[in-house]
Amino acid sequence: MKKFVCSNCGYVSPKWFGRCPQCGEYDTAEEVVQRRKNREGSPSLFLNLEDAGEISLERLSTGFSELDRAFRGGIVPGQVILLSGEPGIGKSTIALQIAERFAERGLVVYVSGEESPQQLKLRADRLLLKRKKDILLTLENDIDEIISSLQNKRVSFMVVDSIQTVFSSDLGSSPGSISQVKNVTMKTIDFAKKRGVPVLLVGHVTKEGEIAGPKLVEHMVDTVAYFEGDRRTGLRLLKITKNRFGPSDEVAVFELKENGFVQVENPSFTEGDADLPGNVLTCVFEGTKPFVVQIQALVSKNRTFSPKRVCKGVDVNRVMLLIAVISKYLKFPIETHDVYVNVVGGLRITDPAADLAIALSIVSSYLEVPLHNTAAVGEIGLDGRVRKVYNINRRLNSLKSSGRIIVPPIEEEQKGVFEVRDLKEAVSVIGGEILGTPGAD
Ligand code: TYD
Ligand code: MG
Repeated sequence: MKKFVCSNCGYVSPKWFGRCPQCGEYDTAEEVVQRRKNREGSPSLFLNLEDAGEISLERLSTGFSELDRAFRGGIVPGQVILLSGEPGIGKSTIALQIAERFAERGLVVYVSGEESPQQLKLRADRLLLKRKKDILLTLENDIDEIISSLQNKRVSFMVVDSIQTVFSSDLGSSPGSISQVKNVTMKTIDFAKKRGVPVLLVGHVTKEGEIAGPKLVEHMVDTVAYFEGDRRTGLRLLKITKNRFGPSDEVAVFELKENGFVQVENPSFTEGDADLPGNVLTCVFEGTKPFVVQIQALVSKNRTFSPKRVCKGVDVNRVMLLIAVISKYLKFPIETHDVYVNVVGGLRITDPAADLAIALSIVSSYLEVPLHNTAAVGEIGLDGRVRKVYNINRRLNSLKSSGRIIVPPIEEEQKGVFEVRDLKEAVSVIGGEILGTPGAD
């Protein structure tokens, strides 16, 4: 049975097409021959559930305890991890540092489709790697060749850098096309599972998140990790967004130094100028780890008809909702102002516990009232109420060096901790006179 697949978007058709009806590209139809299945249904095709093997619970350290924690104890044999991120963020660097750790256990194979051996050597020297002899490089980019040449070798780890540069000669399309990326991933997963070798697939994404390849690969691999960060501070966050062997949403923080990455156990996403209007601290959970972050807001009079909402590190829709709640319950005309919100240090936060801090930073900037080292934790409802959040005690503990902490009602009273039920009460904590400003009720 024949079918034709568009190498650009993956559209499938039983007939050949000159122009893809889905994405509009020309000459992308690729013939794929499906293997005929054995009609008799050979019994060896099946195995009963009882006889299915067990997943190894062995966890292999990456050499970074923070990364091991994010992976829930380390990497499992046969685990396939997709590491993506923008060019230059440090994917090859961290891959090589992990490779060095695995080289202690046996050969590491580094498939380099992007860089020459000399470039890799330069990086390895810069990273002061000691096990270069146990790291085998190959510039071969035919996945079938690579896998067959590893048949008799004991491999402890494999890096494919990058998935877009490797191909299989089964297909006629060029490396990087959707069908190639999919095919290469399938073959790599098969190799990893059969041989129990953990594999790190490096994938590029452009600023616009454009290349569809890695997106598609996400469904196939065990674990998806994104590398992102703030080039200014040198902090890099490795965020795990999918993990079949542990919880997702864990984050490991690194700092890029002269000789590679070092892990940061207690990163600071603050700038130490929480005394100026518009600055409020909060504590968010990324996975199982609390992070203290500083929220900065700037509210300024809008000079055009459409007020701006510009957010970095926080969802703009969440901020728009908070602006609507502030306008309605505090009667501040913020909806007609430009609002900019920034999370210091490049962390992207999704924890709703940051709501109160975001709202108070907006109010503080609007009123031009500095909050002097104030922290706030709490989710804000559409009714203006401040809702409880999980792990409040751990958050309070992380924020204990701040001047005062504003939180939803908690079980025990604590010094310096102000309990509020709604946004109005929160604002009265930061300055009783504020609610008496013109326009407020
Ligand atoms: P790289 O790992 O090549 O990024 P990617 O594979 O994601 O494209 O990292 C590139 C950057 O890292 C480059 O700007 C140089 C910097 N770097 C350091 O700061 N210290 C180091 O020890 C190394 C090896 C790289
Ligand atoms: Mg690279």
